Amino acid sequence: MYQVIARKYRPRHFAELIGQEHVRATLANAISKERIAHGYIFSGQRGTGKTTVARILARCLNCEKGPTAEPCLECAACTEIAAGASIDVIEIDAASNRGINEMRELRENVRFRPARDRFKVFIIDEAHQITNEAFNALLKTLEEPPDWVVFVLCTTESHKIPTTIASRCQQFSFRSVEFGELVDRMRWICEQEGIASDEGALAVLAQAGEGSVRDSLSALDQAIACCGNELNVEQVRELLGLFSLDSLGAVTEALAASDSNRMLGIVQELERNGANLQHYTRELARYFRNLLVAKIAGTPSRLIAATPAEQEKLAAVAQGFGEEDLTRFLQLTLDIYRDLQHSLQPRLHLELGLLRLVHAGKLVRIEEALASLGPAAAPTAPPASAPPTATRSTPPARQFAPPAAARPVAAPPPPPARPPVPASGSLKDRLLAHLAAEDMKAYVDAVEHAEFTENASEIRLSAPKEFGLALKSADIRDAVQKLLGRAVKINFIPATGAATGAASGASVAAPSGAAAAAPSPGDDPLTQEALGHPEVQRFQQTFPGSHVRTVRNLRD
Ligand SMILES: Nc1ncnc2c1ncn2[C@@H]1O[C@H](COP(=O)(O)OP(=O)(O)OP(=O)(O)O)[C@@H](O)[C@H]1O
Ligand SMILES: [Mg+2]
Ligand SMILES: [Zn+2]
Repeated sequence: MYQVIARKYRPRHFAELIGQEHVRATLANAISKERIAHGYIFSGQRGTGKTTVARILARCLNCEKGPTAEPCLECAACTEIAAGASIDVIEIDAASNRGINEMRELRENVRFRPARDRFKVFIIDEAHQITNEAFNALLKTLEEPPDWVVFVLCTTESHKIPTTIASRCQQFSFRSVEFGELVDRMRWICEQEGIASDEGALAVLAQAGEGSVRDSLSALDQAIACCGNELNVEQVRELLGLFSLDSLGAVTEALAASDSNRMLGIVQELERNGANLQHYTRELARYFRNLLVAKIAGTPSRLIAATPAEQEKLAAVAQGFGEEDLTRFLQLTLDIYRDLQHSLQPRLHLELGLLRLVHAGKLVRIEEALASLGPAAAPTAPPASAPPTATRSTPPARQFAPPAAARPVAAPPPPPARPPVPASGSLKDRLLAHLAAEDMKAYVDAVEHAEFTENASEIRLSAPKEFGLALKSADIRDAVQKLLGRAVKINFIPATGAATGAASGASVAAPSGAAAAAPSPGDDPLTQEALGHPEVQRFQQTFPGSHVRTVRNLRD
């Protein structure tokens, strides 16, 4: 009878195991030093070797030549374990034996010495399925186990193992196996089986397994059943419903060209080929994730499950996009995937989603727009508000954002030379000169009066209300503190009504047409004052068409 590849090639000793070096090293060490624990928990992703290692451990402990980290594989103990026929190695599937009665039986069994071998090894698979009662029964045994007993609890959900149990066991977490190791393993198995396989096909199988050896080997079985003794990448990809980099690349090309029409064509094509759209979206998300990793970590990267040639392709595509773009594309694609899960109209959802991607590529980042507002009303623009495209690593041909000139962000005036702070003069002059030097000139004109004695701890400013609000900002406090070389309390005295109007009038730029036309929330003085505030006006210029809906005084 045909034995599936995963079982046929189950590692019999540590040397055949791939990945899990930490588990292997620690266990081998414990065995050679004869420091065997009575309880082990093997946790981690499915198909990564938990049951396999449990059996290897049993073999190491019970081999006639042992205990040894290198069992002979030939003695009765070694061979029986592979066949699951050893009376002293008891495998229990907790999925079907999860109750109190089974655990009581097990407790009985534990009391008797091994029939032939050194140890009685209980391998409990799917241990998280054991009921609470049954765990309690097991706990008693784990607390005072006879010398000859070793428990191995295997689970994919270690958080479901009660802490009372976990704290009496040594825990090992099994990691998903790396792409390269999976490919090597399958290449070796294909050689053993006389299967010719191209590297591309092995890569696709490894990708399909997502880190699980068993899943990759099952996919390999499926591929052999379907394609016979020669595996080629196209067939295998089609069999598993995966998509090539080139077909996914159509999306990034459409994005680079901001071509909505092309996006619709992609969906049309998928439909015509009878592709599963949800599956496609998942692959697309993975594609964007890989592009993002290629962008951030560079290639070749072990974080990307792809052949060197594929990694090169990914790097070339990633070049054309900024990190922000890729992050946004990934997020949006995950949104599409989520929507598709419940959608009765998958095609519409995918179309809509892909069109959103195109539009997302054209957006100006909110951070860039806000950055152009400066830290605190600064007519002397800091260099950060130079055209935002400068911060991108994207080559100009693939720029998603429109050229700076076309953006709504007003071009900043060239920064004037900072005035030096005079060492002497009235406090107001010194303070104002200093604030100007700190790019806070907008507040400078507003200050009507500053009162201060050098040894006092307080500074009193008389200025319009808006200045008072600004005092809350750490910027201005820091500036004053820097000037004086110590912390002072800044006491703000609102200026009189008449003075307010005059003062803010002097400091406020004329509102833009759009801002002036915007509906006003009211005519009360507070609202008028807020609307006249230079920050508010600059915001409105930056985001034309924005409206101020309500004005609240945060001090009240
Ligand atoms: N680390 C590994 N090295 C080599 N082969 C492995 C490894 N892990 C799994 N395999 C292969 O996958 C098959 C299944 O492995 P195993 O039963 O040990 O997985 P598991 O972690 O117990 O999975 P599950 O959580 O589903 O029980 C093995 O027969 C073996 O062929
Ligand atoms: Mg298992
Ligand atoms: Zn042996």
